[in-house]
Amino acid sequence: MNTSLRDKWVFITGASAGFGAEGALHFAREGAHVVIGARRVERLEAVAAECSKAGAASTHFHELDVACTDNVKTFVEWLKGLTPRLDVLVNNAGGAHGIDTVAEGKDEDWEAMIESNFLGLMRVTRECLPLMMENSGSTIINIGSIAGRVAYEGGSVYCGVKAAEKQITQSLRLELNGTGIRVGTLDPGLAETEFSMVRFKGNQEKSDKVYEGLHPLVAQDIAEAMIWMATRPPHVCIDEILIKCTAQAAVHKTHRETS
Ligand SMILES: NC(=O)c1ccc[n+]([C@@H]2O[C@H](COP(=O)([O-])OP(=O)(O)OC[C@H]3O[C@@H](n4cnc5c(N)ncnc54)[C@H](OP(=O)(O)O)[C@@H]3O)[C@@H](O)[C@H]2O)c1
Repeated sequence: MNTSLRDKWVFITGASAGFGAEGALHFAREGAHVVIGARRVERLEAVAAECSKAGAASTHFHELDVACTDNVKTFVEWLKGLTPRLDVLVNNAGGAHGIDTVAEGKDEDWEAMIESNFLGLMRVTRECLPLMMENSGSTIINIGSIAGRVAYEGGSVYCGVKAAEKQITQSLRLELNGTGIRVGTLDPGLAETEFSMVRFKGNQEKSDKVYEGLHPLVAQDIAEAMIWMATRPPHVCIDEILIKCTAQAAVHKTHRETS
């Protein structure tokens, strides 16, 4: 029997925009208790209001910077005050910073990517595991990327941290074997969110070019996959999902209409 999300506790990192915000809304529609974190609290407040309207059993938000261990610990202490049990953890916070070659790369971009996508996922998972250990059938969904499977020019560190995400996911699945906790990676391809605006540091023109002439994935496509992964029957673990838009046959082959 499928797992119902009604009254289940779901925590999504990086839920102030993109996949995280849309994922929160989708879990809310399933009647879950939705807990969200990110650095932009005013954005979280708006997402939380939408979740409440959409039918969440309850909605909770708190500032979260996954790049900071103390901040993650503070967040999870607050979370423990809400619930003794977590049913779904979505490690989504992250993104790319810059598209420089290794030769031109900037320390601050590399560090930001490693801190959020890699160490952030580790910190959040470590702190949340005690809330999941006695909870067979619970689900950890790590948001990876097609970039973790195939490298591209200018993507060295981003591809590297997303490749690491895949190894972390596999290690964790081995470590949790026998607990009943499912661990999977959800790997999107080209998707139109704030991702490219962040990568190109607010340059709208460069960001628009990424999606020019094709129909990219949208946040809803990924949110639907989160729900599907979390609602499989407890004996089913979705190890990996790769989702690309139809126009993206591979990292290096996308079909674009020219006008
Ligand atoms: N869009 C794509 O093409 C694509 C493809 C494959 C994978 N992904 C991955 O999908 C995930 C979500 O990206 P998105 O496309 O939805 O991008 P987005 O619209 O830019 O959303 C990124 C989210 O991550 C949060 N975040 C970033 N750094 C954080 C930190 N240090 N602490 C807490 N939250 C942080 C942001 O919130 P604040 O800024 O408010 O903290 C925001 O809510 C990322 O892991 C990204 O690498 C994206």
